Amino acid sequence: MDHRPRYHPTPLRGWMNDPNGLVHWQGRWHLHYQHNPNAARWGDIHWAHLSSADLVHWRDEPLALAPQPGGPDADGCFSGSIAVVDGRPLLYYSGNRGFEQVQCIAETGAGDAALHGPWRRLPQHTIAEPPPGVGRTDFRDPYVFHDAEHGGWFMVVGASWRSERGQCLLYRSDDGLAWRHVGPLFTAPDLLHGVLWECPNLVRFGERWLLTVSVWPRLGALWFSGRFDGSRFVAEHEGVLDVDGAAFAHLATTAPDGRVLQWPWIDEQRSVERCEADGWAGALGVPRELALDAGGTLRQRPADEVLSLRGAAQPVERSGQARGVVVSTAGRCLDIEATFTLHDRGRVGLDVLATPDGEERTRIVFWPDARRVVIERARSSRDDATRRQDLWAPFIHPDGAPLHWRVLIDHSVLEVFIDGRLCLTTRVYPTRADALHVEAFAEGRADVVLQAWAMGDAMPERPR
Ligand code: FRU
Repeated sequence: MDHRPRYHPTPLRGWMNDPNGLVHWQGRWHLHYQHNPNAARWGDIHWAHLSSADLVHWRDEPLALAPQPGGPDADGCFSGSIAVVDGRPLLYYSGNRGFEQVQCIAETGAGDAALHGPWRRLPQHTIAEPPPGVGRTDFRDPYVFHDAEHGGWFMVVGASWRSERGQCLLYRSDDGLAWRHVGPLFTAPDLLHGVLWECPNLVRFGERWLLTVSVWPRLGALWFSGRFDGSRFVAEHEGVLDVDGAAFAHLATTAPDGRVLQWPWIDEQRSVERCEADGWAGALGVPRELALDAGGTLRQRPADEVLSLRGAAQPVERSGQARGVVVSTAGRCLDIEATFTLHDRGRVGLDVLATPDGEERTRIVFWPDARRVVIERARSSRDDATRRQDLWAPFIHPDGAPLHWRVLIDHSVLEVFIDGRLCLTTRVYPTRADALHVEAFAEGRADVVLQAWAMGDAMPERPR
């Protein structure tokens, strides 16, 4: 079966993990990612490079960074960001050697319109030591941004405080080159919030700030909203950015029009052997637009550009069945909107990538009484070499209010946005050619509206 996504970025061959160095530069978007060009498994990490004029159609560019033998990145050019400082793009990343990290800076010429580099390392500006209390193996993923109010450039680095709790470190600079350690920006309030925080992002929404972190070892991502005074972040609200599962290492950027956009990496849920046999592994999510509502709660939804990939509206059928309303359509590469208005506390949901006999199916279900949304994957594939445990998240919804779902299906990728708040992202690998069916159901009394659009290809030709 062909599990290669069509409108979610994937590597031509080899391995992909975190999105890196996201920047809008001279009229194009540039998106880099963690990449092993030689095998479809993690290791020998380079920075690969994609570019796009419209945020959804991408083209492959030459590799941006490769590990340098003998250098501080000899064992990998780990995650980081790109900032345009005084008209000049600067690339920040974690050099990894023997699993110890330092923060490296590289520059390219202002005339480098295509961002093809070569990126020249600036070793005199390396941040070579973590602050006391942080181990050298827990010090990575510099996220750099400018803030006018607090007057300067800031770098947030993911860390672990005494290898016990996730922590974000803060650095500050006037020129983007010489950095001073300010102190811990924010520390996990308890162990449940993770031992190590990777890939931090800090973005401003007016008076409030949003901090997102990827949590090791839970493999999920969290958000906090609150205040930032130029040296410390104080959280006022928190929640789940993506449930523990497949989406990780999100990277945000501010678009020229002021929108905050963020991409996740979507990990594989097939075995390493299977990935190597297929020759590629990893995908990125579609860009999401982030916002904070008046109460400081995160809102997230696919960026409007994703709508431009919608093709023909799919025919939708409706039938009344014993267990309630059923509305159905079909496809493996779809953008779906489903709205449920519940008149009692019966479960509602959506089966996707389902065979007509139900042997294979992935079920997304909201249980009003259990106050949770679940993605049931036990029957998502007959293939034992894929992970099939359930994903779930707490979710409370006021009785009687319409509940809106946006569900993106792309062969093996599933991104589920519940009510513009919660996101559940995962991978599923149906094996049967007729695992195409989509069915919205309500077990009690509910109005169900289902719409679906076929989605176009957005990546250059890829081996299937
Ligand atoms: C997150 C991560 C980062 C690191 C990179 C290495 O997935 O572990 O912390 O920089 O991947 O590829």
